[in-house]
Amino acid sequence: MSKKDDKQTNPSWGGRFSEQTDAFVEAFTASVEFDKRMYRQDITGSKAHALMLQKTGVLSEPDYEAILKGLDTIIEEIESGTFEWSVSREDVHMNIEARLTELVGDAGKRLHTGRSRNDQVATDIRLYLREQINHIISQLVDLQTGLLQLAEREADTIMPGFTHLQVAQPVTFGHHMMAWFEMLQRDASRMHDCHVRMNVSPLGAAALAGTSYPIDRYLTAAELGFAAPAANSLDAVSDRDFAIEFCAASAILMTHLSRMAEEMVMWSSAQFDFIELPDRYCTGSSIMPQKKNPDVPELVRGKTGRVNGNLVSLLTLMKSQPLAYNKDNQEDKEPLFDTIDTVTACLRAFADMVPALVCKRDTMYSAAKQGFSTATDLADYLVRKGLPFRDAHEVVGKAVAYGVANGKDLSEMDINELKEFSAMIDDDVFKVLSLEGSVAARNHIGGTAPEQVRKAVAEARQRLKGG
Ligand code: ARG
Repeated sequence: MSKKDDKQTNPSWGGRFSEQTDAFVEAFTASVEFDKRMYRQDITGSKAHALMLQKTGVLSEPDYEAILKGLDTIIEEIESGTFEWSVSREDVHMNIEARLTELVGDAGKRLHTGRSRNDQVATDIRLYLREQINHIISQLVDLQTGLLQLAEREADTIMPGFTHLQVAQPVTFGHHMMAWFEMLQRDASRMHDCHVRMNVSPLGAAALAGTSYPIDRYLTAAELGFAAPAANSLDAVSDRDFAIEFCAASAILMTHLSRMAEEMVMWSSAQFDFIELPDRYCTGSSIMPQKKNPDVPELVRGKTGRVNGNLVSLLTLMKSQPLAYNKDNQEDKEPLFDTIDTVTACLRAFADMVPALVCKRDTMYSAAKQGFSTATDLADYLVRKGLPFRDAHEVVGKAVAYGVANGKDLSEMDINELKEFSAMIDDDVFKVLSLEGSVAARNHIGGTAPEQVRKAVAEARQRLKGG
């Protein structure tokens, strides 16, 4: 027995070491606690690699069969909770490989032929993230489907539209929901783009330079559903762009959810009183019995911070890394996984909560009547009668000043009062000054008219179906 065997160095790479790893260093460098969630992808990747080795004659048929059986046993062990994860085996890859060798002997030791953990981990993350992106896209579709129902239901509901959080012009609530829909539609498209760009196979890049075995990278790529093998081995093991891109797309998505959340928090306050959130999504106060707090939207708004932080973590992690693999890359997983978990939870909450919100149509309507929200309509009316827009703006400004001084909305002034500001104003003005008239007039693609909202909903349904 050699001296080094006495020291029990790591069986996977301990050959050149003469002293055991420091216990603190072992724990410090281990990733198994967080990368074990990729166990299925690790095993799927190993199966594809083993198949390729067998087809190219590197691995014998019996060894291949033994590996497959062993890997299936490992899945069962993991899923039934009997698998013993060990920090001394560092990561998900070495835990599974070591267990495989315990189960099937030398065949297990042959699995790593022509492969490195560097291409293995790059493959696992891509496989894992690909599934998660598909799940997130389907969650987005769920939330968007709810928004379409809500938009359709509230296509005629009038509320104030705001700029600078000051009442600007009346809009329909359905139109506002369709604005949210569009934000999410871009998020889904960004997720899709990220999926397409990341879908190349690092397998075969091995540690960094490729391998001397007669491997078939096209076979493993096809077997794993990748569009192609990654073109350059150095790039394949060191690229984490896809993780950054996913986190960037997630940060934008969370920014959208946060803006929606903020509106729901405001709208459900006593001061706005536009909507009622479902009780099951709110909590009470332990001291103030009257309180119903919009905790879920608030928390979604708050969680945007950690997702933004995760993006910055990844960008900073990758900055200045020389090619190819560096241990730094192990730090990619926690921000990535946290982003996935956060986005998934927030989308789940919103998909259930948003369609269940109840509109308080009367309060919205009264709020839209305040703040001279049809002032632009009066100006447009005068323009149609021949007044240049700037002059019309001036006339209406004076009418508004009069309204402010006398506590009257434009629609509450009688015809003689209105005529004081312009002789061009006739009885037909009242149709224009009504909230219904105002929204109905904005009847073009992308406008707030109820008719347009219904069209937009129908068109969006087609888009969601991929039509
Ligand atoms: N746990 C490692 C990671 O997440 C796997 C790759 C390790 N490769 C290496 N050469 N140390 O990045």
